[in-house]
Amino acid sequence: MPRNTTEDDITAEVLQRFGQTPDPRLREIMLSLIGHLHAFVKEVNLTEAEWFQAIEILTKAGHLSGDKRQEFILFSDTLGVSMVVDLLNHRKPDGATESTVFGPFHRQNAPELPWGGNIARLDKKGAPTLVGGRVLDLDGRPIAGALLDVWQAQTNGLYDSQDASLHEMHMRGKFRTDAEGRYLVRTVLPVNYPIPSDGPVGAMLKATGGHPWRPAHIHFVVSAEGFEPVTTHIFDRTDEYLGSDAVFAVKDSLICDFTRHEQPDAEAGQLGIDQAYYTTRFDFCLKPAAEGGPDMLDAQRRLAALGAAAQ
Ligand code: BEZ
Ligand code: FE
Repeated sequence: MPRNTTEDDITAEVLQRFGQTPDPRLREIMLSLIGHLHAFVKEVNLTEAEWFQAIEILTKAGHLSGDKRQEFILFSDTLGVSMVVDLLNHRKPDGATESTVFGPFHRQNAPELPWGGNIARLDKKGAPTLVGGRVLDLDGRPIAGALLDVWQAQTNGLYDSQDASLHEMHMRGKFRTDAEGRYLVRTVLPVNYPIPSDGPVGAMLKATGGHPWRPAHIHFVVSAEGFEPVTTHIFDRTDEYLGSDAVFAVKDSLICDFTRHEQPDAEAGQLGIDQAYYTTRFDFCLKPAAEGGPDMLDAQRRLAALGAAAQ
């Protein structure tokens, strides 16, 4: 009997073989992946040159990925896949702080800082900024002792791990809420910045008429005993890229007003601010942890392990 005479015969045989996968979840994923991949190749009538170009792009992405850079996460982010996965995995009840993309620039072991601690002590160009608010439960009750893991790009648009002139952690810190659930972070006004665009992801954005810019933001992972941690950002309402974030991560509920003050008030003065500065407020609201639910901080550990493995 003739075998595999048409492209559909091949698809059918591949599906038939992978249909024997013992693990049901892996079988579901593989069959769907193969079905979609084959349909895509047939729909666009992929040429051999295009197929080879895809292999070259993936090879380059692999070579570029290591402890300082993760080109595959960038692909996932810029194709909107990360945000779809985020939405599917973090459905929030009304009032709970919405999550957004984790991104590739988190680092473990940021220093724990006191009330109003300055994460931007080496950044001499940015405008001093105080970010404060509370961490609350769904009923609006304060959560004491919640942990806020904060990270941000410098005023030059680079994260510490991208900046060859830096040999220490910078623009990162961990903060604990007080008995009333309050926190206060000193930083500099966040700036918009381009994601790394000198590799295949940048080439894709350029060829498709896109851009690599992200609106100004500050990253947070907020966690507390008995609650589901939230990985999120706060964004500056005035940013020109809010409507075209390269990684599709903006949500209305995460947009903040950064208010300028010409003179430091008493608290800013105590924290050593002696010039015009900005303040913003954001309350994080956590939902209770699901019984036996997934460990949401897993992403942090796995990203760190990926970097370590590539070193
Ligand atoms: C970030 O905001 O750090 C980021 C997120 C996704 C891709 C690149 C950077
Ligand atoms: Fe960022």
